[in-house]
Amino acid sequence: MKKNKKIYIETYGCQMNISDSEIVASILTVNGYDYTHDLNAADIIFINTCSIRENAEDRVRKRLQYFKSLRKMNPDLLIGLLGCMADRTKTALMEEEQLLDLVAGPDSYRHLPQLLEQVGTGSRAIDTILSVDETYADIKPVRLDSNGVSAFISIMRGCENYCSYCVVPSTRGQERSRDAASIIRESLDLFEKGYREITLLGQNVNSYTWKTGDRSITFASLLEQIAGINPLMRIRFATSHPKDISDELLQTIARHPNLCKAIHLPVQSGSNHMLGLMNRKYTREQYQERILAIRNIIPGCAISTDIITGFCGETENDHLDTLSMMEWVGYDTAFMFKYSERPLTLAADTMKDDVPEEVKDRRLKEIIDLQQRLSFANNQEDVGKTFEILVEGKSKRSDRQYFGRNSQNKVAVFTKTQSGPGEYVMVKINSATSATLLGEVV
Ligand code: SAH
Ligand code: SF4
Ligand code: F3S
Repeated sequence: MKKNKKIYIETYGCQMNISDSEIVASILTVNGYDYTHDLNAADIIFINTCSIRENAEDRVRKRLQYFKSLRKMNPDLLIGLLGCMADRTKTALMEEEQLLDLVAGPDSYRHLPQLLEQVGTGSRAIDTILSVDETYADIKPVRLDSNGVSAFISIMRGCENYCSYCVVPSTRGQERSRDAASIIRESLDLFEKGYREITLLGQNVNSYTWKTGDRSITFASLLEQIAGINPLMRIRFATSHPKDISDELLQTIARHPNLCKAIHLPVQSGSNHMLGLMNRKYTREQYQERILAIRNIIPGCAISTDIITGFCGETENDHLDTLSMMEWVGYDTAFMFKYSERPLTLAADTMKDDVPEEVKDRRLKEIIDLQQRLSFANNQEDVGKTFEILVEGKSKRSDRQYFGRNSQNKVAVFTKTQSGPGEYVMVKINSATSATLLGEVV
């Protein structure tokens, strides 16, 4: 494969996939390829895919059909598929639909230069083998679509929680943490380049653990070390599993003003029966106990969640338990989904996807409506308060306004001042919708 070819990467799925695309861009640019932000200028298009729900995969397939139409105009165009759909769909998409020249799974990105060489000799290339220790610790990601203020750092990969509905353990393999020293180096480097907010990523980020000599570094101690880099550097993390949200972690967050006061704690369901079938490893009561600990140890902490509605066997009472859990916690925001059966999961193998589509739709609507009310009520409580906001950029609505976030991860929009992106301003909130705080710099 000739070098100086232009690559373009389109990313679907979660923040980890965004971070992975930055790792891919780094590996390929170091090996002589150029990155282009223009799809139409690309010699090689990569699509970094997600399998989490059926509609995520449908979106990717549609996009691939479009890329195939581009290939009609440019027969030399190469198309590669990366990420979570790689293993599951490699043969179908490659052989039957003739859509792909290359397929690489989440742990195979170091092999991309060789795989592209192989494609250059006229054969197709596949590598979807999962690793037990790959963390890309030494790769310096190329920050794609960056605002120069916020960046992601992957600190662990894989997941072994085996929630019964979830495809991730099979697409991303064993859980493994990344060398703490390399995470701290990357954080420091980002700070020196002007970044002011990093988000530490993992499917179960709070089970992070790294052994060095006879010492174990926990997630709390890693946070503590990164917090110490500079008080101007804000740190966030996602996603936490309720089983690992220790008091030690909460106390660490409470101690450091630059550890953001926002915790994303997916509950999935408020019903003990559903939580058991989902293999979530906690009960409604245990989850509530952790919420009380958060409220107690970190006053003013925002709490957000993920919810799945219509999981196998979910009754109306189970659904009411979810609604009452949402009210009880008073979530600031939530990602809400209809259950979508995924192959190679315990639920697909042993349970019946028996909640009718229209019931799933109705329950999802009730959940979304309730969350809308909760978000609105929470944001109204912020009216009159003043927050420290990290400016991220120009507001979409008006050139005369900036937007940024407070520690609680709420977006605030306010009239521009001299302080620009990457700087902190104090903003007094005058009004709020369910999604945004509106205010003035004071
Ligand atoms: N590791 C994280 C989240 C991973 S996926 C955690 O455990 O919380 C993000 C969200 O997608 C999940 O929290 C869940 O709410 C949702 N999700 C996962 N599998 C799903 C499925 N089969 N159908 C619908 N939603 C699903
Ligand atoms: Fe999936 Fe559960 Fe792992 Fe999250 S913790 S990625 S929901 S298996
Ligand atoms: Fe999707 Fe894979 Fe992330 S399935 S949600 S891209 S880990």
